[in-house]
Amino acid sequence: MKKITIVGAGRVGETTAQILAETELCREIALFDVREDVPEGVALDILQSAPFFKFDGVIHGSNDPRILQDSDLVIITAGFPRQPGMSRADVLESNVRIIDQVTDHMLAYAPNALVLVVSNPVDTLTYRVAQRTGWGRARVFGQAGVLDASRMASFIAQETGFSTRDITTLVLGGHGDTMVPVTRFCTINGVPIAHFLSEERIAAIVERTRKGGAEILALRKNSSAYDAPGAAVATMVDAIVNYRRRVLPCVALLDGEYGERDLAMGVPCILSAHGIESIVELELNAAEHADFAQSAQAVRADIERLRDLS
Ligand code: LAC
Repeated sequence: MKKITIVGAGRVGETTAQILAETELCREIALFDVREDVPEGVALDILQSAPFFKFDGVIHGSNDPRILQDSDLVIITAGFPRQPGMSRADVLESNVRIIDQVTDHMLAYAPNALVLVVSNPVDTLTYRVAQRTGWGRARVFGQAGVLDASRMASFIAQETGFSTRDITTLVLGGHGDTMVPVTRFCTINGVPIAHFLSEERIAAIVERTRKGGAEILALRKNSSAYDAPGAAVATMVDAIVNYRRRVLPCVALLDGEYGERDLAMGVPCILSAHGIESIVELELNAAEHADFAQSAQAVRADIERLRDLS
């Protein structure tokens, strides 16, 4: 992959750019942000870490949307972050305007790009970008489940004392309080977590995962999480750039899968060079299916709100 543009040079955008630069996942990183001078400053700062990490790609920033020109991948992180006490859905009205503008820039300057949406509420905004571009689900998808699964894995590691290397977790559904950590598919090197953890401890981990973003926001006070979110985005970029065909939970447009259509939410996908190759449809049990359907309802309620905003 030659060029990746990150829209939004805030904390998530900057962290993502730094990881992509260090891991040399592309030759050119462009940072677009509407705040005057900010993207240039962020790009310069990252560039000055190059001698430490020995990377030599191009990193630049601008307020001019023409910087999106010829991007192979656009990562959208721009938007107002939620404040402590707010839900991700509370920033929908303000962020949809930003996302619409970014989408128009992509249509004008990066008509062949893949799009990875990170801004919140991510399920609804991924749907919005897909609608406005008409680009289809292979090319327009979002990041949520990779982060939520990583949070859950880190909680299991803290609780058991086992290495994170051996922990596999799966979180489906919308990126909000109704997300669906599927404990049946969570293992420690193939051994179900129930072998090591009581039902009560597993329930506590599920609850903490659902509130993982809010926990960090409440502690940091003036910022949402960005270290793990940046790493989660970079993991998806790595799957794309290196043709890995990884099975990762992505925010994907559903067209009948899991009994849902005309909305976007987190499901396991095969992610590779051309974006989402396909959705993996798991057989959920009754309780899991009910949780998934409830989460879909929450996402659908946000999507309904969009209709009044167009
Ligand atoms: C979180 C925000 C980034 O989960 O959605 O921390």
